[in-house]
Amino acid sequence: MNLTIDQRATEITRRRYQRLSGFYDVMEAMAERRFRPWRDRLWGQVNGASILEVGVGTGKNMHCYPSRVRVTAIDLTPGMLVHAEKRMQRLGIQSQVDLHLGDAQALGFPDSSFDTALATFVFCSVSEPVLGLREMKRVVKPGGKILLLEHMRSSNPALGRIMDWLNPLVVRMMGANINRQTVDNVRKAGLEIEQIEELGMSGIFKMIVARVSKDDLGL
Ligand SMILES: C[S@@+](CC[C@H](N)C(=O)[O-])C[C@H]1O[C@@H](n2cnc3c(N)ncnc32)[C@H](O)[C@@H]1O
Repeated sequence: MNLTIDQRATEITRRRYQRLSGFYDVMEAMAERRFRPWRDRLWGQVNGASILEVGVGTGKNMHCYPSRVRVTAIDLTPGMLVHAEKRMQRLGIQSQVDLHLGDAQALGFPDSSFDTALATFVFCSVSEPVLGLREMKRVVKPGGKILLLEHMRSSNPALGRIMDWLNPLVVRMMGANINRQTVDNVRKAGLEIEQIEELGMSGIFKMIVARVSKDDLGL
């Protein structure tokens, strides 16, 4: 599948998150009570000393960063990074973290740069998710892990149809698509899925552990 970045759609996503960045944490505060233990468990599966976090947002995973690792964290939206930077300072972890502006669809790192790459609630909003997932595959070493915590289209057919119907409104207001087929997208990106954990809500929330094949030649 030949995919290219849709610059216009990506710019619209950036503008939406820029607009939300000042009140994103407040908006998400209730949901975060549920998400936090999932974040802790996802980060518990990180391997290696060199980690990439894609779509770091306001840095809600930063409390999970293991002390022994170096984390490179990127996001598309400058406003979100302002908050991530403040959180990093508050947690006193600036010596182990590199924060950058960047696009998941065109990661500015050489092939096989990281031991593990991770993203939480990001592939609902990346304009071309398969491209972003392929980029994560490219920059992770063969045999390395890709860890995802994502919401997606419900596996309940009736609820799935309601999500399709509501999606245009939600994406405009919140920047996130609620009907992505993220498990399929992970497969389309050529990743090997090792484990999918259902986290509830009719198949909407899932934790996905995928791997870059040991034989991967970065093609
Ligand atoms: C719903 S927020 C999640 C933020 C954070 N990961 C969390 O768990 O709270 C989605 C984030 O993905 C970022 N994003 C969207 N498209 C992106 C892209 N193409 N490249 C990098 N980041 C992107 C947005 O700027 C936003 O910060």
